[in-house]
Amino acid sequence: MTPLLDDGQRWRVIAGDTLQLLPDLPDASVDAVVCDPPYGIDFHNQEWDGKTIRRTARSRGERLSNGQAFEYWTTSWATEFGRVLKPGGHLLAFGAPRMAHRLISGVEDSGLEIRDVLMWLHGQGMPKSRRLPDGQGTALKPFYEPILLARRALEAPVADNVARHGTGAMNTEACSLDPGPGESRRRWPAHVVMSHSPGCRPRRCAPGCPAAVLEAQHAGASRFLYCAKASRRERDAGCEHLPARPTGLFPTAARDASAPAVRNPHPTVKPIALMRWLVALVCPPGGLVLDPFCGSGTTGAAAVLEGRRFVGIELDPHHADVARARITHWSRHAGGEDTGGPEDRPPRPTRAGRRRSA
Ligand SMILES: C[S@@+](CC[C@H](N)C(=O)[O-])C[C@H]1O[C@@H](n2cnc3c(N)ncnc32)[C@H](O)[C@@H]1O
Repeated sequence: MTPLLDDGQRWRVIAGDTLQLLPDLPDASVDAVVCDPPYGIDFHNQEWDGKTIRRTARSRGERLSNGQAFEYWTTSWATEFGRVLKPGGHLLAFGAPRMAHRLISGVEDSGLEIRDVLMWLHGQGMPKSRRLPDGQGTALKPFYEPILLARRALEAPVADNVARHGTGAMNTEACSLDPGPGESRRRWPAHVVMSHSPGCRPRRCAPGCPAAVLEAQHAGASRFLYCAKASRRERDAGCEHLPARPTGLFPTAARDASAPAVRNPHPTVKPIALMRWLVALVCPPGGLVLDPFCGSGTTGAAAVLEGRRFVGIELDPHHADVARARITHWSRHAGGEDTGGPEDRPPRPTRAGRRRSA
């Protein structure tokens, strides 16, 4: 069995295939798994988001539909999570709305207990719709992503399990919202988190921003947690020494001379503030977070900023390099100190509510 971290090591990113590496990880060694696995939707024709999943699932010789193959593949990694998690350890996994049923069933079939489905409202993304005559279309605008919350079975009643392993419960108080004006108590964390729309300005929401839409009835009183979308600056911070590459790694990007070259070209970077809140919610302070699909390392950046240890696994060696660079950068801010100028401050979730609509 491979030890996850050496003595004194705070984090590590391994370049490799999760499905091959997970069986080498020790039993009950991880406090939480926080991940953003491939969604199985052939995102921009990325092989890892479709073909590879189907090939892996079908290599067992069964005839499976695309949805069945995704579910089967999900069960194969979730089963390993059920072994490497400590009893009562939580899993958080993002999914696509149209594949959420397969994600949830696949995780459930692994033996993990489904606890909840959180919703990240971001209001971003364009409808992938065909425009037909008479005002008809074929798709709606994407507005949210589900985040599955599951847990390895407890070994004892929850309080005893927490005392024994540190896992089994969530850090609800640490992740609650500060009292707003006129409120005496902190607000219990909800299973909805929001990002302002990219076009929002400090005191003005862009049309269609989830904050403006949902909070209009509450006179601006913020009831939810807000996490800024990952800006280009946030995505690239720490990667200045890496070669610039075309954004997105979309199949067309290499041929498109006008595509801007960036240091972190990962196409699906999550906001650090969102990942900080999720990590803080399910991993005990000082505990170990595993992200077996770590991409450009956002969960790792969040983990070091929240004082947790981290192990990431990423198939693509270039993304793994970006992940190491980003985590190295943000680990300098661990412990809460805001070094550098305001633009270099670690992103954190806020309670900032609706801004006046544009
Ligand atoms: C949705 S992205 C994660 C993005 C990440 N949350 C971030 O903010 O950068 C999923 C990642 O899983 C990786 N991946 C896909 N299959 C994998 C496998 N079998 N083992 C390890 N990584 C894998 C892909 O290369 C991709 O970078």
